[in-house]
Amino acid sequence: MRTIIEPFRIKMTEPIHLISQSERIEALKKAHNNVFLLAAEDCCIDLLTDSGTGAMSAKQWAALMLGDESYAGSRSWKKFKSTVKNITGFSHVFPTHQGRAAEGILAQTQISPNDVIPNNSHFDTTRANIEFVGGKAVNLLCDEGLNTTLESPFKGNMHLEKLKKCIEDVGRARIPFCMMTVTNNTGGGQPVSMANIRAVKEILKEYDIPLIIDACRFAENAYFIREKEAGYQDKPLLEIAQEMFSYADGATMSCKKDGLANIGGFLVCNDDQWAETFQNALILREGFPTYGGLAGRDLEVISVGLMEALEYDYQVYRHATVEYLGNKLRERGIPHVRPVGGHAVFLDARAFVSHVPPLQYPGIGLVNALYIAGGVRGVELGSVMFGKFNKAGQEVPAPLELVRLAFPRRVYTQSHFDYLVEIIQEVWERRSEISGYRITYQPKFLRHFTSHFERV
Ligand code: F0G
Repeated sequence: MRTIIEPFRIKMTEPIHLISQSERIEALKKAHNNVFLLAAEDCCIDLLTDSGTGAMSAKQWAALMLGDESYAGSRSWKKFKSTVKNITGFSHVFPTHQGRAAEGILAQTQISPNDVIPNNSHFDTTRANIEFVGGKAVNLLCDEGLNTTLESPFKGNMHLEKLKKCIEDVGRARIPFCMMTVTNNTGGGQPVSMANIRAVKEILKEYDIPLIIDACRFAENAYFIREKEAGYQDKPLLEIAQEMFSYADGATMSCKKDGLANIGGFLVCNDDQWAETFQNALILREGFPTYGGLAGRDLEVISVGLMEALEYDYQVYRHATVEYLGNKLRERGIPHVRPVGGHAVFLDARAFVSHVPPLQYPGIGLVNALYIAGGVRGVELGSVMFGKFNKAGQEVPAPLELVRLAFPRRVYTQSHFDYLVEIIQEVWERRSEISGYRITYQPKFLRHFTSHFERV
């Protein structure tokens, strides 16, 4: 087979620099050993996130100039609304400044204290928004999803029996809605099958519980369905996405992922009563309903981006980059979540740094080692991000200790990936030198962003 090439050429460049290793050591020290606190210009290959970090297309830059900045009823809003409706099928569309704003509005309007929200896996901001209003966020990922080495096509699926049991145990009255995250970011960017979405909907229908899709990476998920699930091989990604949304009662979206935009999000639903409460909260927190949290030019950019994310050639290239890195790591025996996800490669820090116990945060050790070795910035998705405290106040480690290398869309080329392989290999060969960390400062919510760490 021939090399899969980037389906674009580069029209504008942005310089990157590798500062010296002694400067990197100093920078990390100043950042209290938390890569979130580093200056971005000190990170040569920045894989902290695929969120809002993508490159816009020529069509998007052109659309930006068409932005209608009218306060109410702008042309850009009409375009945005019709694009979102075309893809999702929902009748009510609310633009927000990003995904967590949509989550916040949903949580504040629909969740009461002690309510329970099941999901395959909640993202950290989703969990925080639920907990902030007194709800409980529970993860009901299928068993395959917890096995980092098992090659299985849809490891993001919901565990159907656990979902049924959860509803029976908690009772319908305390479950205002159920969520499904596609693809499942925190579990390795693993896809959810159409059959699973359908089955979840069937269960929820029995109890009249609405289903909300966390749709950040809906187009990557649609591609996985096309490639891996019987019956979808000839379908356009748009049709697959439409079917995914057809089983849901609403969705939260961060357009910083599969909207191919640098900012933006939306909240959508069909229920008129829900829509009224969303609209009231939107006006209070984000803005007038026809622009929400965004400028007219952002609405334009997102309208183009959402459709570009559904272009088949783009998704073929996108997945080829992730697989390229995954295959190189596999050849070298470097532990990572198999199969690779849609937007990222997840290193298995528990296996990679097996001499560091979970509560000394092996993921932080590995993230920091990658930065020192080559100016590569990844992110821990383990006990710092997802650790909990039990009733006795003791810290409970997360089920997985992962390090995510997330790929900005349309940004890095194959040579960047080759460099990345060299750095990971170097760290792998010297893994016995990686130390554990302890936390010296942490805030109450979303501690991974601002915590300070010290080497053990
Ligand atoms: N849901 C999922 C599955 C996400 O991955 C994110 C963001 C959000 C919701 C929130 O969206 O950032 O626009 O407010 N994920 C980014 C990441 C931050 O790095 O994975 P947001």
